[in-house]
Amino acid sequence: MNTMNESKTCELILALDIEERSVAIDLLKRAGDDLEWVKIGLQMFTKYGPEYVREISDLGKKIFLDLKLHDIPNTVAKAVESVSELPIHMLTLHACGGSEMMEWAVKAQKSNKPDLQLLGVTVLTSMDEAGLAAMGIEETVENRISRLAQLAQDSGMTGLVCSPHEVSLPKQQLGQSITLVTPGVRPVGADAGDQKRIMTPAKAADAGSDFIVVGRPIYQADDPAAIVASIRSELS
Ligand code: C5P
Repeated sequence: MNTMNESKTCELILALDIEERSVAIDLLKRAGDDLEWVKIGLQMFTKYGPEYVREISDLGKKIFLDLKLHDIPNTVAKAVESVSELPIHMLTLHACGGSEMMEWAVKAQKSNKPDLQLLGVTVLTSMDEAGLAAMGIEETVENRISRLAQLAQDSGMTGLVCSPHEVSLPKQQLGQSITLVTPGVRPVGADAGDQKRIMTPAKAADAGSDFIVVGRPIYQADDPAAIVASIRSELS
């Protein structure tokens, strides 16, 4: 099993974007014990809170808490301190919050929860060059991703969330030790949904992903355990 860069295997994370808690819990039971990782995002965390995180952890799952923190350094550090009380393994923050914010977050993580992996989000895939320009940022999306990825690493962050499109770049730029988590992944034959630039699990792993995030193809399946098994076989 891969625990943060100790090996080069790629692991599956289920994006648990399900509105109802009871439906989500039932789904996790049907997805089986081979599914180790679950991503809880803002939608569910703001609705059900820390108790929901504990409930899912009690089912034996490792948790990626995708809160994309972005605030002044002290507030983010305090938020990291607070979530350190939860049974979580990964947490996201926006790299555009700047080096001081990330450094404070890393310091809080190291002193409160050394095993917690902080992941930087560089440029949201919903953002394009026109969107950056409207904020006064005259830079290509690619350059900005590269700049923010470097800033994240220089600030002590050890992981990044990146789309399949850009997954091969960070390891070339920052080295193999950076942990990469990639959404936008679809098993062969699955519906892309609203994802535009998809990649199969095997290709994402080959390109350098350490973790892939898959939601709908699993939680909308009649037999989620079968899809989990099929994705995991693509990764091994
Ligand atoms: O259902 P699907 O597999 O598309 O879910 C992907 C998950 O990854 C969702 O939780 C989505 O918000 C997240 N995500 C993404 N693309 C990004 C960043 C996050 O799809 N660029």
